[in-house]
Amino acid sequence: MKMNPRTLSVLLLLAGPLGADPDWHVEYPESFCVVEGSTATIPCSFTHPKVALVGHVAWCPNHMFCHCPMFCYGTTPDVYNSSNVRADSRFLYLGDLVGNCTLKIIKTEKQDAARYHFSFETNFGWWTGRKGVRVNVTDGEDVKVRSSVTDNVVKEGGQVTLTCTSACSFHQLDVLWYRNGHALSETGPALHLSNLTNYNAGDYTCSLDSSGQKTSAPWSLLVLEDEGFHRSVHLKVAVVKGVVLAVLLLLLAGVVFAKWCTNKTKRI
Ligand SMILES: *[C@@H]1O[C@H](CO)[C@@H](O)[C@H](O)[C@H]1NC(C)=O
Ligand SMILES: *[C@@H]1O[C@H](CO)[C@@H](O)[C@H](O)[C@H]1NC(C)=O
Ligand SMILES: *[C@@H]1O[C@H](CO)[C@@H](O)[C@H](O)[C@H]1NC(C)=O
Ligand SMILES: *[C@@H]1O[C@H](CO)[C@@H](O)[C@H](O)[C@H]1NC(C)=O
Repeated sequence: MKMNPRTLSVLLLLAGPLGADPDWHVEYPESFCVVEGSTATIPCSFTHPKVALVGHVAWCPNHMFCHCPMFCYGTTPDVYNSSNVRADSRFLYLGDLVGNCTLKIIKTEKQDAARYHFSFETNFGWWTGRKGVRVNVTDGEDVKVRSSVTDNVVKEGGQVTLTCTSACSFHQLDVLWYRNGHALSETGPALHLSNLTNYNAGDYTCSLDSSGQKTSAPWSLLVLEDEGFHRSVHLKVAVVKGVVLAVLLLLLAGVVFAKWCTNKTKRI
């Protein structure tokens, strides 16, 4: 019996989940998050038995096999296909035909959010990494400030850590921070504030870009005067005042005594 490549690819697809040949594998991150408008590079690698030679590679969204196995009407929905590269595509293949299947998405759009699968064609047919990688796209609407304290009131001298969160994790992004609308010098997903004084009080916001479009709702920080702290300061001030007063009194007494002595001497 002569098998056509399509039948072979079906057999390979069926063999995949049984782990019959562990050498066939595509490794992607579980999920990946991108801010709308930015460029994402999705890491990916693949392996195959030595006897299989890779001819073509493709990436497709929301299709477990990337490739219509048996009855296929219309075209398969690929975003990248090395045998059919679209010049205007925002999807670039940075990988190779050996083991790297890294995909770059330029100027991510909201509708790019999908589960993407990598597929490669060998002399044994197409093989697809069916787990896929889920790509989330955030427009910044869900950017929030979270704090390490349960309420907004922190004692003077205390500390608080604010984190900027959204559907995305921000490992490759600069996060900007503001207090009462004024930019702070700190950047990064976490803002650590310590030795709090009334100066730190105010409304904190974080933003994913300098245009201020992807900005969180404000989080208010109130710094509570520490009575103990102030009492000790008052005590120190009182002691200093007392010492100064005592010295002045002594000086005054000295002057008065000296005067009295001089007067006495004059009289004598
Ligand atoms: C890639 O393009 C070729 C040629 O148009 C087509 O035969 C193949 O099915 C495509 N592969 C995928 C996975 O879409
Ligand atoms: C795959 O290719 C990309 C882009 O060229 C590169 O950044 C990455 O380091 C490569 N990955 C591996 C595992 O070689
Ligand atoms: C993508 O979104 C899903 C569902 O909202 C979530 O479970 C997942 O953690 C997100 N992934 C990343 C990398 O943020
Ligand atoms: C906070 O105060 C402590 C003790 O007064 C000092 O050692 C520390 O350097 C201060 N930290 C900052 C960030 O100012």
